[in-house]
Amino acid sequence: MSHTAFLAAAILAFAFPYVYAATSDQWRGRSIYQVIIDRYALPEGADPNQCPSGTRTWCGGTWNSLRQNLDYIQDAGFTAVWISPVSQNYEGPATPYGDPYHGYWIADASQLNSRFGTSDDLKGLSEELHRRGMYLMVDVVVNDVMATSITPDLSTYMFKEQSRYHPYCAIDWSNTTSEEQCWLGDTVVPLPDLNTEDPTVVAGFGDWIQSLVKEYNIDGLRIDAAKHVNIDFWPVFCGKAGVFCIGEVFGSDIDDAALYQGSNALDSILNYPMYTALLDAFTLPGPQNMSAVADMIGQQAAKFKDPTLLGNFIENQDIPRWANISVDPQSLYNAMVFNFMTDGIPIVYYGQEQGFSGNSDPYNREAMWPSKYANSTTYQLITTLNQFRNFLVNNTQWATTPTQVLTTSPYGIATLKGDCVSIMTNIGSPPQNISIPVYTPYLASASLTNVLTCEQWPVGSNGTINAQYSLGGVPLVLYPTTLLQDSGLCGNSDTTTGSATYVSSALRIHRPVIFLLTVLSSLLLGFLSSFW
Ligand SMILES: *[C@@H]1O[C@H](CO)[C@@H](O)[C@H](O)[C@H]1NC(C)=O
Ligand SMILES: *[C@@H]1O[C@H](CO)[C@@H](O)[C@H](O)[C@H]1NC(C)=O
Ligand SMILES: *[C@@H]1O[C@H](CO)[C@@H](O)[C@H](O)[C@H]1NC(C)=O
Ligand SMILES: *[C@@H]1O[C@H](CO)[C@@H](O)[C@H](O)[C@H]1NC(C)=O
Ligand SMILES: *[C@@H]1O[C@H](CO)[C@@H](O)[C@H](O)[C@H]1NC(C)=O
Ligand SMILES: *[C@@H]1O[C@H](CO)[C@@H](O)[C@H](O)[C@H]1NC(C)=O
Ligand SMILES: *[C@@H]1O[C@H](CO)[C@@H](O)[C@H](O)[C@H]1NC(C)=O
Repeated sequence: MSHTAFLAAAILAFAFPYVYAATSDQWRGRSIYQVIIDRYALPEGADPNQCPSGTRTWCGGTWNSLRQNLDYIQDAGFTAVWISPVSQNYEGPATPYGDPYHGYWIADASQLNSRFGTSDDLKGLSEELHRRGMYLMVDVVVNDVMATSITPDLSTYMFKEQSRYHPYCAIDWSNTTSEEQCWLGDTVVPLPDLNTEDPTVVAGFGDWIQSLVKEYNIDGLRIDAAKHVNIDFWPVFCGKAGVFCIGEVFGSDIDDAALYQGSNALDSILNYPMYTALLDAFTLPGPQNMSAVADMIGQQAAKFKDPTLLGNFIENQDIPRWANISVDPQSLYNAMVFNFMTDGIPIVYYGQEQGFSGNSDPYNREAMWPSKYANSTTYQLITTLNQFRNFLVNNTQWATTPTQVLTTSPYGIATLKGDCVSIMTNIGSPPQNISIPVYTPYLASASLTNVLTCEQWPVGSNGTINAQYSLGGVPLVLYPTTLLQDSGLCGNSDTTTGSATYVSSALRIHRPVIFLLTVLSSLLLGFLSSFW
């Protein structure tokens, strides 16, 4: 670290004791694969026919079986894995909603879930990920525990006294205090709500997370039900954890969501507002409203402390698989390209790359093994996107450079982030006589490569690129050909040294004032982002 960087870090650490800027910085360029431990891989020799769609009991996946099947994730270019919760769960008879194969029904949080392995197994998984240069993100639940009645015996749980919990009430979804203090679940499987205002609970959870992170060398936390906890709990909890925290804030309202990112809240949240916009724009059939995405990019920039840290997804364990909502594969490819090429951290839910198409829980938690971990078209697209994004992250300022919208048309949207132009369309697979003219900052003489196909793309006069769909609605990811040297893509060797030129000024149209403003604003953003 240079002297100035060290000094800046020291000043930051002093002025903002709960902000772990370096840790967020390290996560910004990562790419996450999300796994439900029970469903990702079977131990060797287990019966592969034991987990039909809709199963609500354990199928047999473990921390070890994930560790033994990491090649598939790493080969696709992912640099982090988010695993389902590791804490002990309810162990009684099956409920009307089945067994806690998903890991979210917490009993004694201070113990590990023996269904998924031993303490050494979890350490082994963490070590193996680190040996591969990948990060471990663990899902944690502190909002609630699980019970089978509204007058539960909690004496075997981490917090044993009734007084450490809010009294039972059903949530009134129009009342924020009620959302924070009343109980999630229902009266069949109620989720008793921890009193996270109680200093004993705050201190107990703080000590617990500090030792969990240290013991298992955890690199980041995904926080369940974050908006159901008083916001001021989070800086203390995440400060004790000392690692990047990304929270689940379910809901499409961006003003509500934006409250949860910042030094007085969490480092980041899962980007439900953008997910909603992607549904509006890309699903077929659907409203095909491209303006929703352009509008959301603008709102994000204005309302979030740092959009480049948001977690972007189109599937997870709580929402329908994309293919259940939209069967046209091009709608999936275009939405995925958007998530990889825009501001934020892309997250892929296991099975998304295998065309899984279950609807709501438990149908969206399919066993992975029937797919045979195939090298599918979607898997190959993800591999290319990860390889390209990892190259940009390692060699340029791409990750901290804000996305700009170049063009919005009824048929698509074009964005510029760093030197990369992405053009996404919602027309679907059938060829159509449609074109989207995109004005880029590139000179007519510049040579661009479509990173997804390795085809060369001409730039017309005035920097215009004409996206045409006579072969169907494919996404385009265009990058200056000369800057792809050493990327390992499109016939270039893979010998990155971190020396690739960032601003391809020789290739760009010089619009001096705009250029100066862009440079100044990215410098300012780069400077400010070190505070977030
Ligand atoms: C909101 O919910 C809290 C917690 O249940 C309750 O105490 C309060 O009275 C509610 N406020 C209103 C306006 O209903
Ligand atoms: C499309 O989205 C924009 C931005 O969210 C919204 O203002 C507009 O009403 C939507 N159009 C339709 C037809 O739903
Ligand atoms: C959506 O999910 C439901 C339940 O899993 C299933 O019955 C239905 O066939 C799915 N639809 C598609 C298009 O895959
Ligand atoms: C998947 O297939 C592509 C195209 O044949 C190949 O280049 C790639 O190496 C394969 N990936 C794996 C992990 O086998
Ligand atoms: C990026 O840089 C890191 C650290 O130097 C290295 O481990 C990783 O392999 C690089 N990734 C790519 C895709 O170049
Ligand atoms: C495509 O559309 C353009 C403009 O509407 C028209 O001039 C052209 O003939 C069309 N081409 C085909 C093959 O239909
Ligand atoms: C040239 O590009 C700008 C945007 O960069 C656009 O506003 C303008 O209309 C274009 N001019 C022509 C003649 O296409």
